Amino acid sequence: MRKVVYPKVGGVDSIRIVEEEDPVPPKGQVCVRIHRAGINFADLMMRQGLYGSNPDYPFTPGYEAAGEVISLGESVEGISLGQRVLAMTGFGGYSEMVCIDATRVVPLPDSISYDQAAALPVTYGTAYHMLVHLGNLSEGETVLIHHAAGGVGTAVAQICEAYGVSKIIGTASAPKREFVESLGMHFVDSKSEDFVSICKSLTDGKGVHHAIDPVGGKHLMRSYKALRRGGRLYSFGASAAVKGDKRSMVTALRMWASTPRFDPLKMMRSNKAVYGVHMGLLDDESVFKGHLEALSGMLLKGQIDPIIDSVWRFEKVAEAQKHMHDRKNRGKILLDFS
Ligand SMILES: NC(=O)c1ccc[n+]([C@@H]2O[C@H](COP(=O)([O-])OP(=O)(O)OC[C@H]3O[C@@H](n4cnc5c(N)ncnc54)[C@H](OP(=O)(O)O)[C@@H]3O)[C@@H](O)[C@H]2O)c1
Repeated sequence: MRKVVYPKVGGVDSIRIVEEEDPVPPKGQVCVRIHRAGINFADLMMRQGLYGSNPDYPFTPGYEAAGEVISLGESVEGISLGQRVLAMTGFGGYSEMVCIDATRVVPLPDSISYDQAAALPVTYGTAYHMLVHLGNLSEGETVLIHHAAGGVGTAVAQICEAYGVSKIIGTASAPKREFVESLGMHFVDSKSEDFVSICKSLTDGKGVHHAIDPVGGKHLMRSYKALRRGGRLYSFGASAAVKGDKRSMVTALRMWASTPRFDPLKMMRSNKAVYGVHMGLLDDESVFKGHLEALSGMLLKGQIDPIIDSVWRFEKVAEAQKHMHDRKNRGKILLDFS
């Protein structure tokens, strides 16, 4: 079988595809023949050595994949050969086959496609965790989301609509205006417009209930300022550390140095909250499984449906990641291993 490998820190040209023996599942694991794997912004940061919580190089990235079970290790119960599953791979999902703990696969109903399944966990799971689990998202509230046209951004838009949010303000680069508006968001040009004043003016001067910030650095404080009293800021990314497909330590250090230190006394006086969110480091798997169950239910009811930007053969993984670096994606990018 073949798999994608990051041999060392590098640009997209450092990515390799290697061939190795088909894996055999040890006790408690299953082997999944992967059809689709999701690409996440975090995969790009890992390749650049800017992520901080990935395995040592060389390693195979890929948090999420969908496929069929082709072999079972000893003592595995409740999963059958040929079963279609979502595989929460953690790492290693960019692969034709992967062995993982049976507890990390979720059976898929026939009505959920491999594309939908591979596009769901990270983006929707993160959006749901922030807004619903932590933020108690409620009807009539207002939400600010950055990278509004991306994987998490489009998931946020759909979840907000399902929860009856009254206004979603989405920032993105200029060519994505029409797409962002088509998802029911108020578009803000991330380069040329001031989202703080726009959030205030669209909420009678109060600010938004939820601000979702994957950018980091000094941008975080601006998102905090866009909140109303009692609002919640979610810090869950650091895209400001990334400049193109090669690592720029100057850009990364600038992001780190400009990250604000929030003052708890000021937060207390305005009843604002700041959450740090890293789904890969949640220590209770049952929380995430609960989110997945809720999201599958929403998918089956037609309340959400992942927007797929493009599906690339895995041999083209470098081009697929470059597509994201070049800010061309509208929705989720998937790799095809079928
Ligand atoms: N903490 C967590 O557990 C967690 C989980 C999932 C995602 N995240 C974070 O959420 C963010 C979105 O993730 P995603 O996977 O859904 O990706 P995505 O939003 O689809 O990412 C690509 C988009 O990000 C925007 N962007 C902003 N700065 C960029 C840069 N320096 N280089 C390239 N694109 C940039 C571009 O949109 P524009 O054209 O609009 O600029 C681009 O199209 C990322 O920061 C990611 O790390 C965090």
